[in-house]
Amino acid sequence: VDESVTLQNAMPFKFGAAVNNSLLRQTAAYRNVVIKEFNSLTSENAMKFAQLHPSENTYTWTEADYLVDFAQQNGKRVHGHTLIWHKNPPAWVTNFQGDAAAWDNLMKTHIQTVVARYKGKIASWDVVNEAIAENGTLRTESIWYQKLGPSFIEKAFIYAHEADPDALLFYNDYGHEYGPTKRTAIINLVNDLKSRGIPIHGIGMQFHTRYTQSNTNLAAAINTAAATGLKVHIAELDIAMNPDGIQDLTYSSGLAEQQKAKYEFIVRTYNAIPKNQQFGITTWNVGDKDSWIRGEYNRPDWPLPFDDNYNRKAAYQGIIDGVK
Ligand code: G3I
Repeated sequence: VDESVTLQNAMPFKFGAAVNNSLLRQTAAYRNVVIKEFNSLTSENAMKFAQLHPSENTYTWTEADYLVDFAQQNGKRVHGHTLIWHKNPPAWVTNFQGDAAAWDNLMKTHIQTVVARYKGKIASWDVVNEAIAENGTLRTESIWYQKLGPSFIEKAFIYAHEADPDALLFYNDYGHEYGPTKRTAIINLVNDLKSRGIPIHGIGMQFHTRYTQSNTNLAAAINTAAATGLKVHIAELDIAMNPDGIQDLTYSSGLAEQQKAKYEFIVRTYNAIPKNQQFGITTWNVGDKDSWIRGEYNRPDWPLPFDDNYNRKAAYQGIIDGVK
């Protein structure tokens, strides 16, 4: 292991991770690898609506502040995630009674309170997360869609921009690499916002992908996003190795090599888009055992560049090789 090589030094763009505050506070090996390897941090959960704003007149800043302070002390960029999402709204939002103007005010107040607090400290935000369904239509299960209609999206960007005109504002979603249906819908949405002068500056492509995803689809996702002219963030990268959920699967060296090749391909393709559009690549957590995938799907999996003990995997070398 060449300890003089790190992701943050080797990459010509920012390389980040989603971080978990409990691990950052409690696990030295985790904290050390975050400090050493990454120069951009996204909060895995601490800046979501329910975490920051658990009741109408209460904001809880402790965890988000902790991450922002940690990042400042260690010279890391913070990317804010996420202002408006259909998932996990707090109960007070789900139960809120009011007309469209009251809902508009609720959303505006949340966005502007959060963005204004971190003005000068968080310079980019995922403003709207996952508004588009798999079939390419807007997600009707979103409370924001139900209460405000399709214009909740542009309003969210306008409100965020009012609170911090210098912040880079992203539309973040997953599935660009699945195929043209969802990808086209996302690209049409952001192009429409852009053409109408709505303040949008970037596309976040989550890239919760799998080792069997074709390079053709991965490249189409990256290159189509770049063709918008907006900044492109591979925002939540992980590469699942057990998508079929085989309970006794072992992570063989053969699988590790296939994962390495997939990480390398993604990084190589991203590195070829125009430099001024490269916002960076962020992996969704650090070590395999921290990944949301094991808990969410109740299966063994090894999706990240570091193993359960924060040692570098073959995938790590794939990332490094991707910019050679
Ligand atoms: O902290 C509580 C714990 O006290 C409780 O016992 C336990 C029981 O359910 O829940 C714990 O909270 C969980 C939280 O993660 C912290 O681990 C929530 O249930 C769980 O829903 C939450 O999942 C997060 C998920 O977003 C939903 O917010 C994942 O950690 C997080 O990785 C995941 O991240 C999302 C991105 O924001 C958007 N894109 C997809 C990505 C993966 O799903």
